[in-house]
Amino acid sequence: MNYTQELHAKDAQYVWHPFTQMGVYTKDEPIIIERGQGSYLYDTNGNKYLDGYVSLWVNNNKKLNKAIKKQLNHIAHSTLLGSSNIPSIELAEKLVMMTPERLQKVFYSDTGSASVEIAIKMAYQYWKNIDRQQYANKNKFLTLHNGYHGDTIGSVSVGGIDSFHKIFKDLIFENIQIKTLCLYKSHYTHEQEMLDSILSNIESILAERNDEIAGFILEPLIQGATGLLVHPHGFLKSVELLCRKYNVLLICDEVAVGFGRTGEMFACHHEAVQSDIICLGKAITGGYLPLATTLTSQKIYDAFLSNRHGVNTFFHGHTYTGNQLVCSIALENIKLFEKDNLISHIQTTSQTLKHRLNKLKSHKNVGDVRGRGLMFGVELVKDKQSKEPLDISTVEIIVYTCKDHGLMIRNLENVITFVPILSMSKKEIKTMVKLFEKALHQTLSKK
Ligand SMILES: Cc1ncc(COP(=O)(O)O)c(C=O)c1O
Repeated sequence: MNYTQELHAKDAQYVWHPFTQMGVYTKDEPIIIERGQGSYLYDTNGNKYLDGYVSLWVNNNKKLNKAIKKQLNHIAHSTLLGSSNIPSIELAEKLVMMTPERLQKVFYSDTGSASVEIAIKMAYQYWKNIDRQQYANKNKFLTLHNGYHGDTIGSVSVGGIDSFHKIFKDLIFENIQIKTLCLYKSHYTHEQEMLDSILSNIESILAERNDEIAGFILEPLIQGATGLLVHPHGFLKSVELLCRKYNVLLICDEVAVGFGRTGEMFACHHEAVQSDIICLGKAITGGYLPLATTLTSQKIYDAFLSNRHGVNTFFHGHTYTGNQLVCSIALENIKLFEKDNLISHIQTTSQTLKHRLNKLKSHKNVGDVRGRGLMFGVELVKDKQSKEPLDISTVEIIVYTCKDHGLMIRNLENVITFVPILSMSKKEIKTMVKLFEKALHQTLSKK
């Protein structure tokens, strides 16, 4: 047995992988990543792959390595419970400066799911702290069908992807779910008509039931996990205005879209939206270490203040809340965003990605190309007219063929996602699309 075969055997014996049917996974010989360099991943057999999806984001910028080493010389961790630390203070200041003005306070956690859990608990308790009697029924959240906010029970409760969430229906709390734009899309020819229809649906729910609704939670601009559904322009701003009108908190889950992914530092910036709570995670540390944050307004924070310890306190916290190593990496990562002018780089490379992917639209099995910034999806269909999805086994063969050609790419059902490293060069973007196109033609010509 060589080294890779040994690792395969141990992986199958000891590791339970996330979102994975292990019965299928262990029959294959999965790629085992050993190292990364720029936009490329290298496996234990020495094969090289262009990284087409961000979940394996490696960022070998030596400056981030340096930030870890520098912080390690001081301390790796001390608690934020009852004391503080330098990187968490400096990072909080930086985040408040760079996010929409309304957001003034930073609560740390370590996963996107936890940041959503915190947002939900904060929004719920906010109303109780203000007036327990008047807001006794503000216990539900307005959510979007096909929304995804993580995998803890609270975040599953506000999610809406049946294939992930249905099994937990007896564990989750009740919310009010709005049908998503994709369901409406096929019924309307004009985007404005679709937008008006969904907004009037939202307004009628808010008008009738705002005394039951603590907050409206959504993924701003792009619903990621459901196949990169792009909201029509103006939707987010209109939702913000409706939340204000009907006294409901707006929670923007920017875990996936934050930090440049959509071409602005935050998706809220595209429509000058001031949410009451924002959740951040994923790219905040450049893919180095787990960190997430929940930012809130001064008004929400103030509702938790008291002169007595147990009164109105937010009883939530994790052991690694505000960990120094993680916060120092995030700070350095943000500095590099600014120094390297990464947002402007993304805006340029986004045009390249969009242009190249749009060329695929003429392919008989491409039903849609959609996205923003460096977050695009190519929907594969059997038939362009009916939009009947291409069967999953064929989609999976395309994904495997991409790997054979040196491209790591991921599908969400019949949607192939292009979510590359934010610093990916134009040349690498063109290569990425070319490799996908090759795999697409190769697989479908055999059918
Ligand atoms: C919009 C959104 N919210 C929350 C999460 C959960 O983040 P994590 O996987 O870090 O718990 C994700 C993960 O993909 C996400 O896309």
